[in-house]
Amino acid sequence: MKILGIETSCDETSAGIIDFNKKTKEIILLANITATSLPLHAKTGGIIPEIAAREQVKYIIPTINEALIQSCPKFYCHSKQNKKSCKKDYGIPDIDAIAVTYGPGLIGSLLVGVETAKTLSFLWNKPLIPINHLYGHIYANFINPQKPIANDFPAIGLIVSGGHTDLIFMKNAKTIQWIGGTRDDAAGEAFDKIGRFLGLAYPAGAEIEKMAKNGNPKAFRFPRPLLNEATYDFSFSGLKTAVTREAGGKNWETKRAEKFISEVGINENNQLLTDLCRGTQDAIIEVLTKKTLKAVDEFNAKSILIGGGVASNQTLIENFKRLSLVKVFAPKKSLCTDNGAMIASAAIFNLKKINPLRLEANPELYFDKPIAK
Ligand code: KG4
Ligand code: ZN
Repeated sequence: MKILGIETSCDETSAGIIDFNKKTKEIILLANITATSLPLHAKTGGIIPEIAAREQVKYIIPTINEALIQSCPKFYCHSKQNKKSCKKDYGIPDIDAIAVTYGPGLIGSLLVGVETAKTLSFLWNKPLIPINHLYGHIYANFINPQKPIANDFPAIGLIVSGGHTDLIFMKNAKTIQWIGGTRDDAAGEAFDKIGRFLGLAYPAGAEIEKMAKNGNPKAFRFPRPLLNEATYDFSFSGLKTAVTREAGGKNWETKRAEKFISEVGINENNQLLTDLCRGTQDAIIEVLTKKTLKAVDEFNAKSILIGGGVASNQTLIENFKRLSLVKVFAPKKSLCTDNGAMIASAAIFNLKKINPLRLEANPELYFDKPIAK
């Protein structure tokens, strides 16, 4: 069963195609093409929704087209008469369904993916499956030969991205129940805001991870809010205040740092910069790991499924693997950040099709089944 997944909830325009083998339950990744407008946003230090959506309008069709061609060079030759005019015959591709992110996200961006998916569903007469973006991050873990199996459930899921930080309980691979989330900034947002203050380009998570490797873990100890409280909620907004306060005390000036970074390149040996990165990353990682492991204990979980852009932080994943007594799953890097394949994968576990006329983008979409507290 081949599914085309379309993802445009934030700045990325992505189309992925997976093939699900019903007998072996294996998910094969056939294509995962992503166009990003990040370089445009790096200039402004954050995403400008209108610019993101305008770029997505330009990229959406070429991205889907490229994914179809990559997944099968003869994609357009399904009609036997036209075998030789491969790629010239824009026929109906050999897919079984179209999955699309319908929320949460930026409304202009979501609309590009949703309206394209609706049109293609009509045009090609293929079922349309609406997908919650947050679920996509979790189901990215199944695009892997070492994917979670029935024995790995119940599981705890941790979604850590630029827009979200959520803990979920999964009784089995199909059910997702929310147990806690951030009360203010998401973990990725904290990385990005602090990175901006430090003079690093947006998005700063990967750069902070790189810098932190040379940082002294004892130089700064930033607060770990809500760490020992009886809640699965998080709070990361105070971290930036703590970093700016400490850095200010050491005469840190973002403008000077920006100049220095742009002139000499990012220098991992700049001790103050690397120490601040280390302190930031250690605080975020400790909170994420401890809260998740507490949930594992309480819910008797047999594994942890991590997903989202911040899951591409290898220091975070290694820390989880070092401290966890249960299996830890994390997608490979290209499947951590927003991508179409994860949306297609989520559709395998939620094959509820919708009449294309009824699908509407929902920027506020969240989890539909919070666990009873
Ligand atoms: O999942 P994603 O692509 O988009 C959202 O759905 O938000 O996540 C993007 C976030 C950004 O905040 C970025 O700084 C963060 O993921 N990120 C990282 C790393 N790579 C990306 N954060 C920490 N360490 C990394 N290596
Ligand atoms: Zn995301």
